[in-house]
Amino acid sequence: MRLLAIETSCDETSAAVIEDNQALSNVVSSQIKIHAEYGGVVPELATREHLKNIQPVIQEALSLASCTTSELSAVAATRGPGLPPALMVGWKTAQAFSYSIDRPLIGVNHVVAHLYSAWFSGSPIKSNIENFEPNISLIVSGGHTIIAKAIKPLNHKILGQTQDDAAGECFDKTAKLLGLGYPGGPQIDRLAKRGYPKSYNFARPMLNKENDDFSFSGLKTSVRYFLEKNPSLLSGNESVPNLCASIQAAIVEVLLKKTLRAARREKVKCVTVSGGVASNSLLRSEFERACKDVEIQLRISPPDMCTDNAAMIGLLAKLMYDQGAPPSLLEEDISPNWAIN
Ligand code: KG4
Ligand code: ZN
Repeated sequence: MRLLAIETSCDETSAAVIEDNQALSNVVSSQIKIHAEYGGVVPELATREHLKNIQPVIQEALSLASCTTSELSAVAATRGPGLPPALMVGWKTAQAFSYSIDRPLIGVNHVVAHLYSAWFSGSPIKSNIENFEPNISLIVSGGHTIIAKAIKPLNHKILGQTQDDAAGECFDKTAKLLGLGYPGGPQIDRLAKRGYPKSYNFARPMLNKENDDFSFSGLKTSVRYFLEKNPSLLSGNESVPNLCASIQAAIVEVLLKKTLRAARREKVKCVTVSGGVASNSLLRSEFERACKDVEIQLRISPPDMCTDNAAMIGLLAKLMYDQGAPPSLLEEDISPNWAIN
C-alpha cells in the first residue's frame, strides 16, 4: 500500500511517499532563511512559499520513490494545528489530489504525528510501532509543550501542557533577547556548548508544582529583566555562551524533571520525546542519562524526525488507515486549533 503525505503547517513544505511502514522518500523544503530576516515566521510569506514549492516538492517525493500517482492508495495531509493559510495550501492540494485520483483522503493532526514520531527511526525511516509500550510522551515544539499519556497506539490523553509560551518559543524569544538569529533553539544549542550552565540562575517556573503543566514565559521574563540590568553581558565573548548554557539548562531541567515525575506517578516504564526541541543536544543527553538511571526505556525521535516533515504525517496516516479510522470528507476544512485528545 502506497500513500502520499503532505505537510505545510508552518514553515516547511514537505511531501513523502510511504510504502507499508516505511518512507520511500521524504522531501523537506525549509523556509528558515526567508523568515530569519524577520526574526520569526511571517504567515503571508510562508503561504507564498508553500504555494511556490508544493508542486515541485510533491513531484520530487514521487520521483525519488519511483512512484506514479496511479500506484497511490491514499493521500494524507496535515489538517491542523498550525498557521491557517499555510495549512490551507497542503490540505487543499491533498483534497484536489485525492479527488483527481479517486483515493481516500486522511487528515492528520500534526502534534499527534510528532508524538508517534518517537517510534519512527532508521534510514530509510520506518515505523517501529509494533514495539509500542505504554508511555509518558513529552511533545516539545515551537508551538506546543505537552505531557501526554499514550496507552496504546492512537490512544493518548493530555496530562498537562504549557499555560503560555512553548519551550521552543522560549528558546526562540530568549535567543532574540541575546541578539541571536531565528530560529533561536539551534543557535542557543550551538553556543551553549562553549558555556557554563551554572553561570546564571534563571527561573524554573512550575518545576515544583505537583501537576504536568508548564509556564515558559516566566523564564523568558527573568532573562529579559536580567539583561536589562546587565547589558554589557550581551557583548562578551564568554558571557553569551554562558547565558545560552544557563537558559538551556533551565528549560531542559523543567522538561526532564516534570516528565520523569509523571512517568513515576503513572507507573509507566517508557518515556518518549518528540518535536523540534527534541533535537536539542543537552535535552537528548540529559534524558538518556536520567532514564538510564531510573531504568526507564527512552524513545526519542531521531534528529531528522524532530522538526516538521511529511514522513511522520504519512507514517501516522498509515497507522490510522490500518486501524480503520474513517477517511476525511472531501468538503472537510482545516482545523488550526485541533487538540490532540
Ligand atoms: O516541531 P517544529 O519543527 O515546529 C513546530 O511544530 O513548532 O519545532 C520548531 C522549534 C523552534 O522553536 C526551534 O527553535 C526549536 O524547535 N528547535 C530547537 C532545536 N532545534 C529546533 N530548540 C532547541 N535546540 C535545538 N537544537
Ligand atoms: Zn511541528
